[in-house]
Amino acid sequence: MTSTTPSAKPPTLTVGALRETADRERRVALDPEAAAAFIAKGFAVSVEKGAGSEARFPDAAYLKVGVTMSTREDVIAKSDILAVVRPPDAALAAALRSGQMLVGLVEPLANTDLTADLATRGVTVVAFELLPRTISRAQAMDAVSSQASTAGYRAGILAAASFDRYFPMMITASGTARPAKLIVIGAGVAGLQAIGTAKRLGAVVTGYDVRAASQGEVESLGAEFLTSSIAAGAAAGGYARAMTADEAVQQQDELSTHLESFDVIITTAKVPGRTPPLLVTAATLTALAPGSVCIDLAATDQRGNVAGSIDGKRLVTDGGVIVVGAGNLASDLATSSSHMYARNVLAMVTSLTKDGVVTIDPTDEVHAAVVVSHDGHLTTAPSAAPTKAPVS
Ligand code: NAI
Repeated sequence: MTSTTPSAKPPTLTVGALRETADRERRVALDPEAAAAFIAKGFAVSVEKGAGSEARFPDAAYLKVGVTMSTREDVIAKSDILAVVRPPDAALAAALRSGQMLVGLVEPLANTDLTADLATRGVTVVAFELLPRTISRAQAMDAVSSQASTAGYRAGILAAASFDRYFPMMITASGTARPAKLIVIGAGVAGLQAIGTAKRLGAVVTGYDVRAASQGEVESLGAEFLTSSIAAGAAAGGYARAMTADEAVQQQDELSTHLESFDVIITTAKVPGRTPPLLVTAATLTALAPGSVCIDLAATDQRGNVAGSIDGKRLVTDGGVIVVGAGNLASDLATSSSHMYARNVLAMVTSLTKDGVVTIDPTDEVHAAVVVSHDGHLTTAPSAAPTKAPVS
């Protein structure tokens, strides 16, 4: 008689994902592939019915790998760890309970009241935004970069689709088209992806950043680099610092003399925890030719890098310039963005758990940085900025 294999240990932790409720948000924090990987590691996974549909992951795909599909209330009640893409809305925040862990892009610098409240109520909050990006083992958890990367790629595509002319030079029997001249302002993760995409589409591309270190990265993609007289990359481990009022005016003046010659402008300049700097002024928009396109990845509900741009809105100025407020382009590429995000969630949760138990080690550099609250108190100063690769 053959002996039967002992059944696998029952899962001790449940990871949950919910339908995102933010306006125009199509991503989901767990895709079926990451869910399957969690289950293989001994977790149970519970997902709200329909949570993945906007990202093209039907309920059946989750069910197939062993996920329990349930109501929102049930997922919140059952989950020890809830993975979210965006900060929790008021109803979700109110429903979270002591001992539960929330992992996501929770914007801790902007949501200090929310994180303080969750801390007091014993919720463990983990913010991807505070990940130290200089540590190589943290790269698999870098959701800020993965989402900036999909957004930057999409920005190049959106720019081409919004422009009424060719991007590449075209020599045909019916005439010749000159290539589009495109500039990307802010050559970080998103900006470099936008540069690469626009180059592949045939535009003549220039990159611009206040971090001198970005010059080599821009040039390695075959784009020109427009040098700034303002160097601002030395703050907080590689992030650009906010400009002083004088520097901001100097930068706007300096940029305006160059921008008039471009057909397409993609802006990605963000300063963590601050409102984005205004880089393309109303005067510059007036000087651009009709049909010129500005895609503003730094657009928020109130403002962005481009005068008048509002996230989610497409405006056409009196002079015929198209301004697209595109603050959440990662959501447009919902399937790829969610797939990468879910891998980041998997890596993060794996790091924060051991043998089926949430295990936070305050001496671990990653844990110390990303865990905003635990055991009833805030563990990270709200003003803490993550560190990135040092600026050379
Ligand atoms: P971000 O999203 O905070 O900002 C976007 C870009 O805008 C940055 O390059 C920034 O310098 C630029 N910017 C800000 N204010 C500006 C202004 N007034 N004018 C012009 N440009 C302005 O930055 P992101 O994309 O998160 O990355 C920034 C740096 O961190 C890059 O060097 C990137 O390569 C590095 N990084 C390193 C990683 C690693 O070592 N594992 C991972 C991710 C990023």
